[in-house]
Amino acid sequence: MTLPILPGEMCDELRKTVLGQDEATREIGVAIVKHVAGQGGDNILLIGNSGSGKTTLMRAVEQVLRGRPDLARYSNVVRINANVLAESREGYGRSVLTRLYANAQKALGPGAPLEELLRWVEGGIVFIDEVDKIRASVGESAHVKGIVAQEALLTLMENENVELEIDLPERRTVAINSSQILFVAGGAFEEMYDTVYRRAVLGTDVAPLRPVVVVSSTGVVREETTFHLRDYMKYEDLFRYGMTPQFVSRFESIIVLRDLGEEELAKIFIEPEGSIFRRSRGWFAKFGLDLQITRGAMKMIAWEAARQKRLGARALKEVWRRVIRDAEFDPAAANPTRGADGRGVLTVDEAMVKRAVGG
Ligand SMILES: Nc1ncnc2c1ncn2[C@@H]1O[C@H](COP(=O)(O)OP(=O)(O)OP(=O)(O)O)[C@@H](O)[C@H]1O
Ligand SMILES: [Mg+2]
Repeated sequence: MTLPILPGEMCDELRKTVLGQDEATREIGVAIVKHVAGQGGDNILLIGNSGSGKTTLMRAVEQVLRGRPDLARYSNVVRINANVLAESREGYGRSVLTRLYANAQKALGPGAPLEELLRWVEGGIVFIDEVDKIRASVGESAHVKGIVAQEALLTLMENENVELEIDLPERRTVAINSSQILFVAGGAFEEMYDTVYRRAVLGTDVAPLRPVVVVSSTGVVREETTFHLRDYMKYEDLFRYGMTPQFVSRFESIIVLRDLGEEELAKIFIEPEGSIFRRSRGWFAKFGLDLQITRGAMKMIAWEAARQKRLGARALKEVWRRVIRDAEFDPAAANPTRGADGRGVLTVDEAMVKRAVGG
């Protein structure tokens, strides 16, 4: 079989929307292509701070697969929140298969043979978001819902005989071989991050981190420690957090996403389709205005966002809102100028950002 898409191409597609996470996009790219080629089984666990791009990456895979007709056959993707797995109402994980089946029915249309429907289910891709919410223990105490959910997932991840109830048209039970379904789980594991960070800073097991001084383009000085979770994290940290060894061992690779730095944040602000800045341009276009931004203003916004480490790229939205909200309310009052073609131009410059963020 020739591959419908190469890992490099898949990766390039993902990088159109997910920036600054090259390791993650590469690993996911390879895992998806292997899956497509029928050599599945490389389940992936994504760990990364809030706003580092976990959900964005999952969405990007879905979009690429759905967007290319030659990959449609492999686009049976479901994205679910891990909490759902702990709901008995949803049948402890059974809902994953039910959703894959419903997708297959929709894609193949009425009258599709059962065999073909089941093949689509068995070739599905399952994204489990917020997987850190299904801890088996919190501190010293057991977390029953988490235990149930992790077990439900375990059953799904490697079982060759999971039962699924379908209506065809009469209700019946079929056996699904779920061992070829690709699972990608992601979570922020905030408390684990804090624990590992403390260990790194106190230097109980490695050389202590030393802060470095960084200076912004406008001369503001800040002290930073360059802590990367993956340099310090061990498997035991995941176990202590409440993920069971059986569960963790079902993932072939564990990828730790990077904390996004200023340069990546500046790119994320401007470049991706549907970026914050592009959307804003769309808004001002409705008033006949061309929204522009100076390089300096862009850097200031990224610098300001990078200060709010725990928000990741989400901080960009917050900073941008402060900068642009008055102009959004009344574009004419924001002193637009006339461009060469006579169109109104609204330029966000450093002074405007400074006024908004008080830097
Ligand atoms: N690496 C990235 N590349 C492009 N955009 C990003 C990236 N990371 C985050 N973003 C942007 O920031 C927003 C939040 O990101 P996302 O939802 O992917 O975070 P998350 O890692 O899933 O965080 P959480 O743990 O809080 O769910 C998204 O709307 C996206 O536009
Ligand atoms: Mg998320």
